[in-house]
Amino acid sequence: MISHAAGNETRPKLVDRFGRSIEYLRLSVTDRCDLRCTYCMPKGFKGFEEPEDWLTFDEIERLLAAFARLGTSRIRMTGGEPLLRRNLSELAGRIARLPGIRDLSLSTNATRLDRYAESLKAAGVSRINVSLDSLDAECMEKITGHDSLPKIMAGIMAGKAAGFSPIKINMVALRGINDHEIDGMVEFCIAHGFILRLIEAMPMGSTGQRASFLDLGPIQARLKEKFDLRPQAAELGGGPARYLTTADGNANIGFITPMSQHFCATCNRVRLAVDGTLYLCLGQEEKFEFRPLLRGGASDAELEAAIRVAIELKPQKHDFREKPEKVIRFMSQTGG
Ligand code: 5AD
Ligand code: SF4
Repeated sequence: MISHAAGNETRPKLVDRFGRSIEYLRLSVTDRCDLRCTYCMPKGFKGFEEPEDWLTFDEIERLLAAFARLGTSRIRMTGGEPLLRRNLSELAGRIARLPGIRDLSLSTNATRLDRYAESLKAAGVSRINVSLDSLDAECMEKITGHDSLPKIMAGIMAGKAAGFSPIKINMVALRGINDHEIDGMVEFCIAHGFILRLIEAMPMGSTGQRASFLDLGPIQARLKEKFDLRPQAAELGGGPARYLTTADGNANIGFITPMSQHFCATCNRVRLAVDGTLYLCLGQEEKFEFRPLLRGGASDAELEAAIRVAIELKPQKHDFREKPEKVIRFMSQTGG
């Protein structure tokens, strides 16, 4: 369904069957990654998409332009690890220039960010989210399968120097693995002006199902007390995180709780995988293949009609709790 918002907003809106306005697209530019986080990608995984099946920059630009004409205004580049895709800054520039796109951001593991921070910023990426589950080199090696912490730290600091703002640090909280480091991570983020988001592991694929899930409810209550945190009234970033803020208002800590308190009713996003498959939900199978249209000579009007059809497929909610064994894709395949 297409509707037009009231007031000054004259752009159309894509609205799904449940009244949710879909204005946010997460674009996976590669399903490959240089790390192997235990809860994400299996060790020795070989089932990557073939390069000939990756959407080209031209195809991505054309499809996102169609989304933007229908009201999508925010794009996040993700993966896998997006910085593994060659010439990502060029793609970033092309997306940032699309009419209607008012926010372009990047999710990265930061291992290569020191090399690309400047060019990405110059290309129009305004904000970055970095996955960082620990500040301890050994623990990071256990979680990511690589001695990754030094490169990641260099990447984060390069991001700070390049002027990305805000920088969000995403920490998947894992019972018995990094839960003893949560307080240290809060202090680190407060000291550097980063926004910490603690995330509950989701049972995505065999890896996610084996993850040591930690309920963030009690953690939130404990941190609130210890750091004298208050509920954050203003919306930060328009995503699913609920934020607490320090007494001086200078630091925010977010909680992303897909398991203990799901937020599907306000889900505003869809995910485009590197092969042109649009996934309508992280936890469900509904999808729409755009590559055949893009390579089969579809017109712009046909692309727009297809997007409307796809959005109608968006399911009401995930079943992570009811059916944790159900999802066969892991995060790096869908786009985090
Ligand atoms: N559950 C929760 N978060 C996950 N990520 C990857 N796999 C999972 C999972 N099973 C996170 C990464 C990164 C983001 C892209 O997705 O830690 O922050
Ligand atoms: Fe790579 Fe991110 Fe998955 Fe870790 S969570 S393996 S960094 S895609």
